[in-house]
Amino acid sequence: MTDHHSERRYTPGRSDEETERLIEQSRLFEPITRRFLKSAGIRSGMRVLDIGSGAGDVALAVAELVGPTGEVVGVDMNPDILETARERVEKAGHKNVAFHAGDIQTLDVGGDFDALVGRLVLMYLPDPVAVLKELIPRLRSGGIVMFQEIDFTITEAYKHPDTPLMGQLGDWVVEVFERSGANGNMGMELYRVFVDAGLPEPTLDAGLLIGGSADWPGYSYVANSFQSVLPLLEHYGIATAEEVDVETIPRRVRDEIVASKRPVVIPPHIGAWTRIS
Ligand SMILES: C[S@@+](CC[C@H](N)C(=O)[O-])C[C@H]1O[C@@H](n2cnc3c(N)ncnc32)[C@H](O)[C@@H]1O
Repeated sequence: MTDHHSERRYTPGRSDEETERLIEQSRLFEPITRRFLKSAGIRSGMRVLDIGSGAGDVALAVAELVGPTGEVVGVDMNPDILETARERVEKAGHKNVAFHAGDIQTLDVGGDFDALVGRLVLMYLPDPVAVLKELIPRLRSGGIVMFQEIDFTITEAYKHPDTPLMGQLGDWVVEVFERSGANGNMGMELYRVFVDAGLPEPTLDAGLLIGGSADWPGYSYVANSFQSVLPLLEHYGIATAEEVDVETIPRRVRDEIVASKRPVVIPPHIGAWTRIS
């Protein structure tokens, strides 16, 4: 698998706006991620590998949990976004976080890790089981594996005649992820992926963002997500920029939600974790 192929599979693309979107997304999902990391057993002094680090949000959360006696190694195939990750880690004052640019499918990440973690990354790997099988031997005995992935399966269930705009936006997102080869159902597949990789059965949990008030902070996140996938929406002929009309999404979604009194549901993030013997 070449870098070029992997790059095509990262549906939201690479841009400064996408980096900003990832940081905004993290602010919304941080409490869920922290809950999963803590429940998984990430604690002081651990050496942790974070794959698909992006702008560094998971690495930053892990760095706080492992403290100055621990260590975090992050990997991402996009060297530009790692510059942002490094700046943020420096600003936070962590001296024990290092990032390496490369494709996790081929990069030698070293070994002796106490934990392997990642968020929204297995969904972009053509063969997540193979990647886990490759990485599990790099864990010490008793090592932890924790992944957090989104699942779009539920999007259909939340459709309602009173919220046609949210229904349309949901359909576009599901289609663009499908067409680009990313797995929008990775959350529900975590259990299978863990077991097929030879890991003990994982503990599962889910976190879901839901909002319905006029001042809910998620409206701009919905718009920014569309800004990132817009080039691919157009490329695949799913929707035009005029149809998406990114600039007005926050206002239109908020108006629809407030008028219908039906909340926005962002597809759930599912967490899975286990410990090897
Ligand atoms: C949706 S972002 C998530 C970033 C971060 N984990 C977070 O939750 O904020 C996915 C990241 O995985 C990276 N990625 C995708 N496939 C990869 C691969 N094969 N090797 C390394 N990084 C990869 C992308 O470059 C992107 O930065």
